[in-house]
Amino acid sequence: MSGSLNPTALVRLLGGWHRGAGPAYRELADVVRLLILDGRVPLDMALPSERALAETLGVSRTTVTAAYASLREQGFLSSRQGSRGRTCIPRQMPAGAGGPAAAELISPNALAGAPGLAAPPGLLDLAYASLPASGEVVHRAFAAALTELPALLPGFGYDAVGIAPLREAIAARYTAAGAPTTAEQILVTSGAQHALNIVLRTLAGRQDKVLVDHPTYPHALDAIRASGCRPVPVALPHGRGWDVAGMESAMMQQRPKMAYVVPDFHNPTGRLMTDPQRRRLVRAAAAAGTVLVVDETLRELNLDAVGAAPLAAFSPAVVTIGSLSKSHWAGLRTGWIRAGSSLIQRFAAARTTMDLGGPVVEQLAAAHLVRSLDEPLPARLAALRENRAALLELLGGILPDWEPERPDGGLSVWCRLPAPISTALTVLGPDFGVRLAAGPRFGLGGAFEHYLRIPFTLPPGQLETAVRALRSAQDKLDSAPRLRRSLRRTPAVAIA
Ligand SMILES: Cc1ncc(COP(=O)(O)O)c(C=O)c1O
Repeated sequence: MSGSLNPTALVRLLGGWHRGAGPAYRELADVVRLLILDGRVPLDMALPSERALAETLGVSRTTVTAAYASLREQGFLSSRQGSRGRTCIPRQMPAGAGGPAAAELISPNALAGAPGLAAPPGLLDLAYASLPASGEVVHRAFAAALTELPALLPGFGYDAVGIAPLREAIAARYTAAGAPTTAEQILVTSGAQHALNIVLRTLAGRQDKVLVDHPTYPHALDAIRASGCRPVPVALPHGRGWDVAGMESAMMQQRPKMAYVVPDFHNPTGRLMTDPQRRRLVRAAAAAGTVLVVDETLRELNLDAVGAAPLAAFSPAVVTIGSLSKSHWAGLRTGWIRAGSSLIQRFAAARTTMDLGGPVVEQLAAAHLVRSLDEPLPARLAALRENRAALLELLGGILPDWEPERPDGGLSVWCRLPAPISTALTVLGPDFGVRLAAGPRFGLGGAFEHYLRIPFTLPPGQLETAVRALRSAQDKLDSAPRLRRSLRRTPAVAIA
């Protein structure tokens, strides 16, 4: 994404940047560097001119000049002659923390959190909670899809709701799970993120409030903010479950247009909402006139075989989002929306402003995968159970003052840290061989500096290397309090 950042937007992101922990220019440079590393300032953005930023920040121009010079020196700002510096990532991370310099080249997109890119060779990726494809099963589904394709070739190929066999297969899956569903209630999308954008575009307008779990899935927060809506966070209680009473009162007082919840193996905590809580939530949403949007992307990753009916089974008004990204492979880019059939028609109309339908071969393959959804799951779940046990044991042994929460399912452990060091660990991580996503990515207003999400998608051997790397990064911070202070900052992210 290229563009330019105006001084007011940058100052808002900078929050309380000046903590008196060192020269002002260095603090300013450190905070801008963290914003770039954390993806909160995108790459290839022109920063404000020195004069404009100095004026808006109320600091001397020399401070900004020196901060920009330092960012250029470290490779975070391009220095094209005569033009404003653009944000970038150094080809080699500076060994600024005094730890071993990262031997590997750092991919700008990987550091900035762009989806779908693997960490560079040599870095263990704990930033993504995603698995490789269940290869053999996916491959077979595509082979079958190719043999079925000729029958569809005489058609135009445009279909804003999705091909019939896939809609039928998804509907049958809901029916079997206790939420009777017809194909007319399904719209096929290019993944759950696409689905959420369609729902937001159809049902919410600028300035509308959207209730969210806090913490929650970062790209959902991005989508909500990008649509001009205002996220209303309701904190998940420490350690267990949902604060449904808190959600009820937020709904009654704030009357949000929508509530976005992830009740099935919530990202990042891995929690599962109980049936009584589901019932209460549906009632509260109906009473407040709030549309309940339920993201079931992780629903199949049920590690303890505890059951919960899909939220759609409790009310026909629920809008459900699903995806094959976690059960099979994110590279399929196939998801869906389940809702009442007239709402599906509105979603289809809204969708055509973004795209005119999904690719047909992918949908044919997806129909096979949905019909035999249970086939790849046992092996996937067994590996995840083993990884989860290994990660919890490693954390207990190597980082005993960290407090990991045991997830019911999903792909990650949400871990409370002994100090607000999540961003600092994330910045140091590549020096020690791991790529992380800082806790504040999962919340609003810089919350969750005390938390780190640790996926258990790597095999136990690699998890051990990763946890030892986290230990080394923490030791580095413990032995360098000044470094820790300068890296510890939580810029107030604007709550739109
Ligand atoms: C809760 C949640 N929703 C949506 C997504 C994105 O899913 P998709 O790849 O289908 O767009 C993810 C991916 O991590 C997720 O965890």
